[in-house]
Amino acid sequence: MKRLDDDLAKLARRYARFASVEARDSSPSYERLARQVAQSNELLEFIAALPPERQQPNLFLAALRATGELPHGNGALEEIIRLNGERVRQVMLTHATQTNEPSRCAVLLPALATLPQPLALLEVGASAGLCLLPDRYAYDYDGIRISPSGEGNAPAPVFPCTVNRHTPVPQRNIDVAWRAGLDLNPLDVHAAADMSWLRTLVWPEHHDRASRLNAAIEVARSDPPRVVKGDLRGDLPALAATAPKEATLVVYHTAVLGYLREQADRSNFAAMVRGLGAVWISNEAPFVFPELAKNAAAAPSPDMFLQAVDGVPVAWSGPHGQSLHWFG
Ligand SMILES: C[S@@+](CC[C@H](N)C(=O)[O-])C[C@H]1O[C@@H](n2cnc3c(N)ncnc32)[C@H](O)[C@@H]1O
Repeated sequence: MKRLDDDLAKLARRYARFASVEARDSSPSYERLARQVAQSNELLEFIAALPPERQQPNLFLAALRATGELPHGNGALEEIIRLNGERVRQVMLTHATQTNEPSRCAVLLPALATLPQPLALLEVGASAGLCLLPDRYAYDYDGIRISPSGEGNAPAPVFPCTVNRHTPVPQRNIDVAWRAGLDLNPLDVHAAADMSWLRTLVWPEHHDRASRLNAAIEVARSDPPRVVKGDLRGDLPALAATAPKEATLVVYHTAVLGYLREQADRSNFAAMVRGLGAVWISNEAPFVFPELAKNAAAAPSPDMFLQAVDGVPVAWSGPHGQSLHWFG
């Protein structure tokens, strides 16, 4: 009984943290609903009955939207779960939080542009591969515009990104000779159900993100990046071996390594990338590599990601690619 109470209390803290750190000032509806969960034993028990890796706030809230409208008013969320809980549960059991945020290319581009070109891009945890196309998008760094490298068949989205004075804003886009992704469950840009789920994962008030996601999907559909099914813990070397030797191999990941529960798995992955002789760009929440976060300047806000190149922290980045604070 005590164990159950502890589990529910932990889950309540997780949802309360999501409300106050991640959703606050970003999504009023998600902030409100996550707080309701944190304060309701009935809702906490519903979520706690799912496997631990299926209890994330993002997954629960997206499943609510996938099965109907977001509820308003006191008690409405409990009512929905009483009436519709089984459908919500099924979505949570069969889908994962694979949010593919192409805007994150805006925070990757400065580091990519400092490397010898052309590049061989290998993204682990690539979802639908939308972050494998940095050269095919446009950017606006506080008024400095960067165009796509080549002519595409679909109009390129423009990703705005605020920067500080230390950020090495590139002069031009990058040259990509080769690209490939690795994911446990690659999403297919041509599959309507996969793309509908990606759209549902964008938070409700984020209309600009949603329209840029749609534009990025069209860019990807005109020439889809290859995303191979596999586990970053074991399948990376075989895929890396297929990259052309004359290009600079870059292995990168954003919002992925937090899915590895064991710190040892993350450290082993880092050692594996170094063993490949690849450049390694990590763009992750600071808890992923606490020893790197320890050596970084204080974050401008608690939801920021830490970017590191070859194990050296270089910047704090907005979690949706909206800002980049390079270290002086
Ligand atoms: C939140 S999404 C991020 C997608 C993309 N990196 C982005 O920033 O838009 C995390 C992705 O990592 C993948 N993933 C999680 N664990 C993985 C593993 N062990 N090996 C390969 N992919 C993994 C998930 O399937 C999911 O598509």
